[in-house]
Amino acid sequence: MQTSKRPSSEDCTVFLATAIRAAEAAGTVLLEHARSGFRIDYKAAINLVTDADRGAEESIVRTILSAHPSHRILAEERGEDGAADSPYRWIIDPLDGTTNFAHGFPFYSVSIGLECDGECIVGVVLDPVRRELFTAVLGQGAYLNGERLRVSIIQTLEHSLLVTGFAYNIRETTNNNLDHFSRISLRAQGVRRTGSAALDLSYVAAGRFDGYWEVKLSPWDMAAGIVILREAGGVVSGFSRSRFSLYGQELVATNGHIHDQLLRAINQHPDPH
Ligand code: IPD
Ligand code: CA
Ligand code: CA
Repeated sequence: MQTSKRPSSEDCTVFLATAIRAAEAAGTVLLEHARSGFRIDYKAAINLVTDADRGAEESIVRTILSAHPSHRILAEERGEDGAADSPYRWIIDPLDGTTNFAHGFPFYSVSIGLECDGECIVGVVLDPVRRELFTAVLGQGAYLNGERLRVSIIQTLEHSLLVTGFAYNIRETTNNNLDHFSRISLRAQGVRRTGSAALDLSYVAAGRFDGYWEVKLSPWDMAAGIVILREAGGVVSGFSRSRFSLYGQELVATNGHIHDQLLRAINQHPDPH
């Protein structure tokens, strides 16, 4: 592993520009497939992948490696790619919300995060349908189409609009979030399930949701969104307050004010009766 110094803000500006260029090209690929059609394959019973996922990923990886040939890649469909020993790793979900996309439900995104020495420093999430581009660089704030983002000021779970999601192995495990979902639905003002984790995180950053949790996420679902949320003043953790890991699967992401309340509600064990 190469040793590195922290990237300068000029470096980060270049990385952000690359991420935006890659996300916009991928967004075009997705919209073209949405218009002209695509083949669907099954990774598992309810886990789909389409030509659009693969085409968008191809385009993102090409854009990133032509700008930064010495960097590493972790992308959902292809796994590891690029150089072996760079401190920089791009973490890519070319189509977050594949099930929505495959059904013509227009809520999906492109998610591109950049890690440097294990820390997420750049995040870009693009909703190509609404033309909403969420961006952030560590220490430089979060933006939606260039406008500064702030999390909501909601103070209680009872007044919160929350969002969650379910993993593709929902039928095969009891750790499938249905227990948390039913318990928290009785506490919050509302709970939504949108089908795009990257947009869920970006929407908490924009104050459209007050909190989000999920039990089995992958790094590409979270890498970009957590930079955007933190830079908008939000808080990210696992199911305890301990340090968050991108590779730890559990995520609780809030406006900060309701974080402990949501953690308590998640960790409250169901009444045995
Ligand atoms: C999925 C979405 C969904 C979440 C799932 C993810 P994909 O990603 O983010 O909202 O609930 O856990 O796997 O497969 O559409 O990229
Ligand atoms: Ca995803
Ligand atoms: Ca995906």
